Amino acid sequence: MKNMILVLMGGMSVEKEISILSGKACIKALRKKKYKVKVLDPKGNFINEIRKIKPKIVFNALHGRFGEDGYIQSILESEKIKYTHSGVLASSIAIDKEISKKIFINKKINTPKFFVYNYNNSLNIYTLIKKSKINFPIVIKPINEGSSIGVYICTKKNLNKNLEKLKKYNRILVEKYIPGREIQVAVMNNKALGAIELKPKRKFYDYCAKYSSKAKTKHIMPAPLESKKYKEVLRIARKAHLSLGCQGITRSDFRYYKNKFFLLEINTQPGMTNLSLVPEIAAYKGIKFENLVEWMVKDAGYDR
Ligand SMILES: Nc1ncnc2c1ncn2[C@@H]1O[C@H](COP(=O)(O)OP(=O)(O)O)[C@@H](O)[C@H]1O
Ligand SMILES: [Mg+2]
Repeated sequence: MKNMILVLMGGMSVEKEISILSGKACIKALRKKKYKVKVLDPKGNFINEIRKIKPKIVFNALHGRFGEDGYIQSILESEKIKYTHSGVLASSIAIDKEISKKIFINKKINTPKFFVYNYNNSLNIYTLIKKSKINFPIVIKPINEGSSIGVYICTKKNLNKNLEKLKKYNRILVEKYIPGREIQVAVMNNKALGAIELKPKRKFYDYCAKYSSKAKTKHIMPAPLESKKYKEVLRIARKAHLSLGCQGITRSDFRYYKNKFFLLEINTQPGMTNLSLVPEIAAYKGIKFENLVEWMVKDAGYDR
């Protein structure tokens, strides 16, 4: 008899719709593999709900804040319930683009030049951009959001207008814009699985390019890189995964420009929808979606 699995999906982040899509796909896969599945959308007094259900293992299909940032992981630790993906510390570091980029730099992993802008305390942003030699166009983005939410590519002219849109975050990342190609790498069980290239029809790989099949982002698996470069990006992604102490499956997002890879971020709970990249990379390696999901459940544990 296989374990009962509690799938957490939905949640409180702005990515809740995507989480529901990921969750539904994983529930289908788990049922196909004959697991008994229960589902919970963790809102309000959900700890009592979890205690009533008494799962041994949680499949965490949440994305973004509260689900991917160490909060839910620490609750599951204290309830002594095993869970999929990374532990408390790796999750909280990876969701924070400022801290994770500082670690990448420390580990000599190339990441776009950046600084943190604080709406209340920082000097004039134009002065800071000049001082840091970042040059326009630049990218501004929230420090701990996902799905390209709040990511703006800015010229000198439209920066002020876009800055207004992110004011509620108080602190944001200001990053050098890296032209070139979009490459993403999946790491599973501490080994790099493969690299995929995305060619969005839109201006960049924004929310719509990620989730709308109509936006028609072209996925090229494997990423058409020369063999040496393909191996290099795999090596960098694995190094990033290990340097943050990630577990299970992660996906690292890169820009590739003038023969150089720039790591934008590492995702500890990558999307599992039907347009998602980790399942596509795994499929190319001969791992069917339901086997991928079952592996994740078998790999579930406590903070390791
Ligand atoms: N510095 C940058 N240069 C060029 N494109 C960028 C940069 N930062 C973000 N982008 C674009 O925005 C997308 C989302 O940015 P990312 O940092 O991965 O945040 P998210 O957590 O929202 O996925 C990237 O996949 C890329 O297309
Ligand atoms: Mg990303």
